[in-house]
Amino acid sequence: MKIRKLNRDDKAPMNLLLMADPSQNFVNEYVNRGECYISEKENHLIGVYVLLPTRPETVELVNIAVLEEEQGKGIGKRLVLHAIQTSKQKGFKTIEVGTGNSSIDQLALYQKCGFRIIGIDRDFFVRHYQEEIFENGIQCRDMIRLSQDL
Ligand code: COA
Repeated sequence: MKIRKLNRDDKAPMNLLLMADPSQNFVNEYVNRGECYISEKENHLIGVYVLLPTRPETVELVNIAVLEEEQGKGIGKRLVLHAIQTSKQKGFKTIEVGTGNSSIDQLALYQKCGFRIIGIDRDFFVRHYQEEIFENGIQCRDMIRLSQDL
């Protein structure tokens, strides 16, 4: 599997990006403001993530997603570790990520990759998304914010 930066004129893989965030508006904004990285296996696109500079020296990992049939094989973890490494090489001092209170697997993945919880944006998903989101039988209401020093 290869991970590489998407060229500016390449089309962003919206189908994959939307798996991580159902808001087309948010995804468009992230892709325009950030840098999109893709992973390929035998020339097929199987994963994606976006690095979005936020505050000075801080970058946010957004829109990480792996094709459904390729999930559970360690690709997501490799993408998160790649994002951390890339951010460090670019000179950022902090990397952040946010996920829903109901995203149990994602919370496990990020913490296994060294992220620690720094805060909770209560009712973020209620305020910003029209449709109710449910995962693991839990309503996704709050954004759990995590970060790690680079
Ligand atoms: N409890 C404990 N560990 C868990 C877990 C759980 N419930 N669920 C996952 N993990 C661990 C795995 O064991 C693995 O760690 P390990 O290698 O140390 O064992 C790690 O988390 C992730 O596994 P991996 O196979 O690398 O993940 P993946 O390729 O399936 O990708 C996502 C993970 C989240 C990117 C993928 O499921 C996805 O695309 N989901 C839809 C989009 C999405 O939700 N994006 C994130 C938005 S915040």
